Amino acid sequence: MTEILSVRNLSKTYPAQGKTLSVLNDINFEIQQGSTVSIVGPSGSGKTTLLGLCAGLDRASSGSVVLNGIKLDELNEDERARVRNQHVGFIFQNFQLLPTLTALENVMVPLELRGERNVKASALTLLEKVGLAARGHHYPSQLSGGEQQRVSLARAFSNSPKILFADEPTGNLDTETGQKVEKLLFELNRDAGTTLILVTHDLELASKTNRIIRLKGGAILNDSL
Ligand SMILES: Nc1ncnc2c1ncn2[C@@H]1O[C@H](COP(=O)(O)OP(=O)(O)OP(=O)(O)O)[C@@H](O)[C@H]1O
Ligand SMILES: [Mg+2]
Repeated sequence: MTEILSVRNLSKTYPAQGKTLSVLNDINFEIQQGSTVSIVGPSGSGKTTLLGLCAGLDRASSGSVVLNGIKLDELNEDERARVRNQHVGFIFQNFQLLPTLTALENVMVPLELRGERNVKASALTLLEKVGLAARGHHYPSQLSGGEQQRVSLARAFSNSPKILFADEPTGNLDTETGQKVEKLLFELNRDAGTTLILVTHDLELASKTNRIIRLKGGAILNDSL
């Protein structure tokens, strides 16, 4: 088994009113390629922060993250963006769709960044997968929360990522849509070998992954490995 992600002595602090707020404290784990992992824990325990650091969206205060053999700490902003575009899919807790682009255009962005051909057709196929082919011309503000979540999912799938980070991917969805999304995520893992790391409050969803990492107060309380 190969390691796709290695997190060593990772800490994150924020300055807060002259003091230092410790959000993550000495986090350590390794994740094997092709596995499925859930990160669970109470609100404010640092789950989103941890996901952002692992995906190279943000920089740690100390410690290291090695993603697919690349040391993220040694890269600048542009280099990290390139690594993300090449290897990483990310589904944000708050979607983060570009408001001035339609659903279809949002999905096209990563494909265009990669300089792919037939970008529009590929994006449409991805929207079809999440059941939104008919809504491609709508702007995010014209879509429901669940629909935006599914556009975000299609966008995250678009670069066939080696590793997909999903921050509460079913959190805003009704049971039926949630199950569809869940199915898509596990299919991607099974068919494309994409490593899946998801943050969830849904313990039933978490129990379907190979491993559960439990955070509390910015530290690992328990790792089922
Ligand atoms: N930019 C920031 N500046 C200061 N504090 C921050 C910042 N970002 C996050 N925090 C703090 O870090 C802590 C962890 O936040 P985080 O978003 O990682 O939690 P979470 O586990 O994802 O919670 P939830 O389940 O509510 O999404 C919170 O107390 C939050 O207020
Ligand atoms: Mg969060």
